[in-house]
Amino acid sequence: MKFFVDTADVAAIRELNDLGFVDGVTTNPSLIKKSGRDILEVTKEICDIVEGPVSAEVIALDYDSMVTEGRKLATIADNVVIKLPLTLDGLKACKTLSGEGHKINVTLCFSVNQAILAAKAGASFISPFIGRLDDINLDGVDLIEDIRTVYDNYGFETEILAASIRTVNHITECAKIGADVITAPANVIKAMANHVLTDKGLAQFVKDAEDAGIKIV
Ligand code: E4P
Repeated sequence: MKFFVDTADVAAIRELNDLGFVDGVTTNPSLIKKSGRDILEVTKEICDIVEGPVSAEVIALDYDSMVTEGRKLATIADNVVIKLPLTLDGLKACKTLSGEGHKINVTLCFSVNQAILAAKAGASFISPFIGRLDDINLDGVDLIEDIRTVYDNYGFETEILAASIRTVNHITECAKIGADVITAPANVIKAMANHVLTDKGLAQFVKDAEDAGIKIV
């Protein structure tokens, strides 16, 4: 299972990358806005830090402009993945740009049918948004499971990139289902290390080591 970090915060990416948990990065216009940075400049900086795929999203809505923006984003670095929205224009742009050899992440996926269309359009990644489905009282994790089944039925090679992850439980469920990739905020990925029994056990070990005067170096 690959871990992408869902942020345009360079410091957060650097910290998680140093921990060895960054296989790639996803950004979107909201995350770029939050960073307060220029999209081309911050994407370049991220691509210099991370070797894996870095998704950068177009902002245009029509096919011609999406293709123009996608080609421009792809010039930033070899590991840029062009992120396109799941609309008919976005799917058409996906077909064109993937045909040119670019990697595409089709984003804002909320149904199995949308995921099928993205795979047929040549997407390298499909991004189903789990948290936003949970927000409207639907089950985002069920969608990941259904897409896994359908992609396996037909041998689609598009990778399932579970997005809009809000909790560590989302990551566990995606791992059990067999999502290829999860993208989550850095704090959620770091929280995977937390366990109350680890803290309790370590506190006891520290106390016993002090009491016994144990020294290693
Ligand atoms: C994915 O690529 C998106 O950037 C992201 O996961 C959206 O998450 P949100 O629903 O928390 O904004």
